[in-house]
Amino acid sequence: MAWVGIFGLSEPGEERDMREEEFIVTPWKVEGKVDYNKLVEKFGTEIISDELLERLIRDAGESSHLLRRRIFFSHRDLDKVLDDWEAGRGFFLYTGRGPSGPMHIGHIIPFYFTKWLQDRFKVNTYIQLTDDEKYLEEGRGLTLEETRKWAKENALDIAAVGFDPDRTFIFQDTEYIRNMYPLALKVARKINFSWVRAVFGFDAQTNIGMSFYPAIQIIPSLFEKRRCLIPCAIDQDPYWRIQRDISESLGFHKAAAIHSKFLPPLMGPTGKMSASDPESAIYLHEGKEDIRRKIWKAYSGGQPTLELHRKLGGNPEIDVAYQWLFYFFEPDDGKLGKIEEDYRSGKLLTGELKLILTEKVLKFLEEHQSRREEARELINLYMYDGELAREMWKKIHE
Ligand code: TYM
Repeated sequence: MAWVGIFGLSEPGEERDMREEEFIVTPWKVEGKVDYNKLVEKFGTEIISDELLERLIRDAGESSHLLRRRIFFSHRDLDKVLDDWEAGRGFFLYTGRGPSGPMHIGHIIPFYFTKWLQDRFKVNTYIQLTDDEKYLEEGRGLTLEETRKWAKENALDIAAVGFDPDRTFIFQDTEYIRNMYPLALKVARKINFSWVRAVFGFDAQTNIGMSFYPAIQIIPSLFEKRRCLIPCAIDQDPYWRIQRDISESLGFHKAAAIHSKFLPPLMGPTGKMSASDPESAIYLHEGKEDIRRKIWKAYSGGQPTLELHRKLGGNPEIDVAYQWLFYFFEPDDGKLGKIEEDYRSGKLLTGELKLILTEKVLKFLEEHQSRREEARELINLYMYDGELAREMWKKIHE
């Protein structure tokens, strides 16, 4: 398939090993060592400039390590979102999850960042669970009953993040479709098959549900007649590219987006964590022993022997434990800087670095899991009974 975001693969469908400089980024697959600068160029997004970063932090009234460290590094129209905000027109947030199984730590990062934005800007937030997409996606082999069940399970993890129940609507496509379908039809009529084929790499064998599906993922960006800001990893951007070409002709705003990099998988600094390799990720439901074991086995930037490590030091750039601290688990720049310095100098050993991360992950997941239990009581507020949820469901009878 001629996937957008493939660099160096010459022929559609061609099977061969990728060269080192090659990588693939699509909404369904990330492989190889991603060159984020090349990706920005290829997708036509923009790197967040220092000025824009400062402006966002100023408007938010607080900084976030996810921004400072450029984990969220690219955008579309973020400046326009801030124009709207500063002029009092406001904006809204939209993000989502494809419920194909349990969520891992990478999947939850965009939700924590979305919550941070919601807390700072006090805006409505829509969260789509695409049980339809994950059923249609070929190669997954999931039944519709399974993806619908995973949507409910994943909703608990998302609710555990702590969104404002009255400003948040979490919905699952197979339930909420009745409200979305009229608009989905209007969107679908504007997108022809050769366009989605070019953007997503569909071919003559792709099931027709997949070629309609992009219309469904676009709809929540049209839930309000204000600008929508979409926090997500950059793999989801192809949808927003189409959205931006059709939305104005339907009387809506072009969607804005803020894109993150991928939290690297445990076995090395390339690709994305994958359900097909459970050792590549830590799942939100996992217990202490699995967490300890997985981090202990993670790819390290340390030297092969203690003597060499003391002498030459470790390489944080390729060390997964350091990268996880950098991406998410050590928000304090001072503490992180010290860890980096000690690791580079050889003072901090690989095993010690892994233990620092292990403690952080254990604490984070213990808290997450207990908030997930509490969320069982709250989930109806997010999906059906909260102020925003009720307003959205009421639209069926309009
Ligand atoms: P899904 O379930 O593949 O991913 C959920 C969210 O997690 C991001 N992501 C990651 N972020 C950091 N590190 C990683 N290793 C990592 N892997 C995945 C994804 O970019 C996404 O933000 N089709 C979508 C569901 C969806 C959606 C949306 C996502 C529907 N509407 C709007 C974002 C915004 C999907 O299958 O996501």
